[in-house]
Amino acid sequence: MVTSSAPGKVYLFGEHAVVYGEPAVPCAIERRARVTAEEIDEGLVVHAEDLKLDGFTVEYMNEGGGHPAVDAEEPLLQAATSYVNEAVAQVRDAADDPEAGFEIWIESDIPLGAGLGSSAAVACAAIDAGCRELGIDLAPAEIADRAYQVEAAVQDGEASRADTFCSAMGGAVRVEGDDCRRVSGVGNLPFVVGYDGGAGETGKLVAGVRELREEYGFAADTVEAIGDLVREGETVLGTGDTERLGELMNFNHGLLAALGVSSRSLDTMVWAARDAGAVGAKLTGAGGGGCVVALDESDAALTALKYTPGCDEAFRAALDTEGVRAE
Ligand code: PMV
Repeated sequence: MVTSSAPGKVYLFGEHAVVYGEPAVPCAIERRARVTAEEIDEGLVVHAEDLKLDGFTVEYMNEGGGHPAVDAEEPLLQAATSYVNEAVAQVRDAADDPEAGFEIWIESDIPLGAGLGSSAAVACAAIDAGCRELGIDLAPAEIADRAYQVEAAVQDGEASRADTFCSAMGGAVRVEGDDCRRVSGVGNLPFVVGYDGGAGETGKLVAGVRELREEYGFAADTVEAIGDLVREGETVLGTGDTERLGELMNFNHGLLAALGVSSRSLDTMVWAARDAGAVGAKLTGAGGGGCVVALDESDAALTALKYTPGCDEAFRAALDTEGVRAE
């Protein structure tokens, strides 16, 4: 039996636009998903807790078999089980052992579907744990690639490499199409996260942006403007000028809101953080609900978010320089 973990992430800049080949800069944070894998004779048994579902156990013999009997939102549940299914398929492929059976336990401090990269972290940790249980040690770059295949399969091809590369490698990363690299020289950014207790449906939100982009030239321009903003942000990253980074985060939030992926609760949390003195605040991830990320050296934004109606939880999130690892 082996356990691996992988971090969640916040998007400093560039979500959604990254799907269309623009660059993005996600940053790994010190909130992890841990996956334990034990080889069994056949099939797949999955126990998952703390995923903002009530905790569920799924037992099935192979892909697509069983259905967990819990009271949770169907899309969330389907997503959670499909990521695990696809991750196990990647392990079987890596081991060239299509019949390998597993019992898997998932624990996570990363809320599900809330823009903090929970599915990427679970996919990376599951692939690492499953492979190591079979005696195979994959390099983080291969785990990133296989975890990307997992997301692409579950999200009908509508996924970028950003979340999975960030979770596998740790630190701040830059992703543009298939070009993925770590960004060096990034100090510890004073991230504060606000979470509204909800979740967005990534697939639907990505499809919504795609439709807008096809319908209106100015929506396509907005996506390109996000790319320009990310290129500007990259030049600021190494300088430690958090004021300018914050300004660009604010701009990025405005452009995402224009693309229709913010929500009342996300906007409320963004303004609560800004009013309290955060240098910048934006939604992170697919949007629709879930989390915002703010930059604030002081505790003011954190405190303000904790008292903001509609904010379920607020916490500091340090940059995690370590990616997927054995526990
Ligand atoms: O909400 P998350 O953490 O799944 O992030 C989604 C980010 C998108 O850019 C909207 C989609 C993607 O695959 O990059």
